[in-house]
Amino acid sequence: MTGPTLAVEELDDRVVVTLRRPEARNAINAAMVRELHDVCTVLEERPRLLLLTGDGGVFAAGADIGELRERGRDQALQGINSRLFDRLARLPMPTVAAVDGYALGGGAELAYSCDIRLASPAAVFGNPEPGLGILAAAGACWRLRDLVGASVAKQVLLAGRRLDADDALRCGLVAEVVPAGDLLKRAHALLDRMARSAPLALRLTKLVADAPGGHPVTDDLAQAILFESTDKQTRMDAFLAGDRP
Ligand code: COA
Repeated sequence: MTGPTLAVEELDDRVVVTLRRPEARNAINAAMVRELHDVCTVLEERPRLLLLTGDGGVFAAGADIGELRERGRDQALQGINSRLFDRLARLPMPTVAAVDGYALGGGAELAYSCDIRLASPAAVFGNPEPGLGILAAAGACWRLRDLVGASVAKQVLLAGRRLDADDALRCGLVAEVVPAGDLLKRAHALLDRMARSAPLALRLTKLVADAPGGHPVTDDLAQAILFESTDKQTRMDAFLAGDRP
């Protein structure tokens, strides 16, 4: 499934996607948007974990500015990036972004749309959109606030603050900072940990955790489905029989 802007590795329990436009620091262009939609289709049809990363010491340097310059009101209203990032955020199984180097503009928003982020010491998150005369319209204005709080989010969105790896760790944007050489290994270990859980339990937990507002009925309904699952039975039987990881 590998295309011109992505390397895609499909494994049994996960899909690994590497952004790969070295000539443009992995900037997100229309082709990459299309290919990422294709990845979403695959993961919606057969839910698996997703590991998203960037090639060449960069996550993604934003939306492609050459393409953005040509877009007008109608393209903005199509929500080219925002719909993609919403679709990624709503993927059935957990997603992890492994960020080495720049994650700017739309690249940062792409990372914000994942469930968990890991960073190398060279990671830099920022939303310099107002400097280009636009706003960060693919989720940064609300996702970043949810992730780090309004104060830090506004420093990034309004004052051009860039969060380096330590900043990102301190404000909870990333789970961990690991040397670039270990980043993918560590991300896979995190996915391994998630892969040990019951897939349906992970799926429903993500659905309930992301459900707007939160409501006990949602929790109960999701739990009702899981209480009837064979996986729950098997796993609890194993625990009670002394078979503990
Ligand atoms: N869109 C299109 N092309 C981009 C790009 C983007 N968002 N970011 C980088 N590129 C291109 C550059 O134009 C350059 O192309 P060229 O070699 O044909 O001149 C190439 O990628 C390398 O970029 P360069 O700036 O020389 O690399 P660098 O390592 O010195 O700096 C960045 C890296 C990320 C700091 C810098 O490229 C940058 O600031 N990019 C734009 C970030 C931004 O404003 N993003 C928000 C967009 S919404």
